[in-house]
Amino acid sequence: MEIKIEKVKKVEGELRVPSDKSISHRTVIIGSLANGVSTVKHFLKAGDTLTTINIYRKLGVQIDESQGLLFIHGINLTGFKEPQDVLDMGNSGTTTRLTFGILAGQRFFSCITGDESLRKRPMKRVLNPLKLMGAHVDARQKGEFLPSAIRGGNLRGIEYLNEKSSAQVKSAILLAGLYAQRKTAVIEPIMSRNHTENMLKIMGANIKEKFTEGGYTVEIKGGNELKPIDINVPADPSSASFFVAAAVIVPNSEILLKDVLVNPTRDGFFRKLKQMGANIEYINHREEAGEPVVDIIAKYSPDMKATTVTKEEVPSMIDEIPLLALVATQAHGETIIHGARELRVKESDRIKATVENLKRIGVDTVEELEDGMIIKGKTKIKGGTIDSYKDHRIAMGFSIIGLICEEGITIKDADCVYISYPEFYDHLKKVTKS
Ligand code: S3P
Repeated sequence: MEIKIEKVKKVEGELRVPSDKSISHRTVIIGSLANGVSTVKHFLKAGDTLTTINIYRKLGVQIDESQGLLFIHGINLTGFKEPQDVLDMGNSGTTTRLTFGILAGQRFFSCITGDESLRKRPMKRVLNPLKLMGAHVDARQKGEFLPSAIRGGNLRGIEYLNEKSSAQVKSAILLAGLYAQRKTAVIEPIMSRNHTENMLKIMGANIKEKFTEGGYTVEIKGGNELKPIDINVPADPSSASFFVAAAVIVPNSEILLKDVLVNPTRDGFFRKLKQMGANIEYINHREEAGEPVVDIIAKYSPDMKATTVTKEEVPSMIDEIPLLALVATQAHGETIIHGARELRVKESDRIKATVENLKRIGVDTVEELEDGMIIKGKTKIKGGTIDSYKDHRIAMGFSIIGLICEEGITIKDADCVYISYPEFYDHLKKVTKS
């Protein structure tokens, strides 16, 4: 499906964007391990998280929905069933990598595959540590790509340096650690999102966190029964970021975004925009399931200055960096983004997708780096047709920039927004005035 976005006069109003994808996945995955029924309010219903529900049902977990709540009937660490068929993870890296951690602890056999994009994404980063723990696993192309087959077994704890600060890798190791003898530790030079740790803590796992000069260490020991959780999932900061970006770049705009998760491992994009001079305010600070939540007011910000993004800052804004590059076209000066090589192995190569698409719409003041981008602003943008590469975040980011393009933007394969934000185009329509 192609979508045409026209230039608009302003963005205004109020939205509650869909719930956090990372937390929603984890309610099902970790809730399945509990001794009892977990209740989830505001579960994200989108492509990736529906994949997670489907997979855990195939592994023997009863999951049902009633009156807007999701109920996950946990089956303890040991209640999973051998799946009858290949588990198809669709487009979802989070479902795949976290589930590998749980399957590493099961004596049965499972086969895992995914869509064309997921079959190109690296899996050794998670399969190698699980092998070190004692799981039997193999995958296509010397253990790197799906499809993969895994038979779990007796696991032993390891100490693992998570150099890439991947929350998916950390989470897989911690979940496998629940099944391991002795303690399992993950060390991160730069801390990645910590929703797995937060949820495991609330559920009574034996988990400890340490912050040192060398970074962050989390340790887990198995043996504890996990209690079910009762959780209200806040709005996803990655989804909110599109409308914050829209408000700051479109003249005369002001938007209110409700219930947004602002865990410091996730809100780097908003903090970076504020540093650039954007008019963004957090109000109504509160806590939900051990996570900080606010409402956000964002307003048109014509005087934003360019910025630099360093590798230390990348994990807290990893999924928002393409959008930051787009906003940087509207900031005065040269924005340099470094240390973001990981973007090359997301749902698409997001560095290439951002730079190529910017060029397609007439922005030639952008340069591709091996691990980032350089963008010079402030620049008027003509518009044109872009390829989303079937990547939801690329489709949504360029839809937002379309709001200020002289001739608008046409997005190819725009239906991929379904992966994280099925209501995206309805919400966009609701808050834009032409
Ligand atoms: C996620 C972790 C990040 C992020 C992804 C969701 C998670 O991936 O990009 O969208 O829920 O753990 P990596 O672990 O590969 O950095």
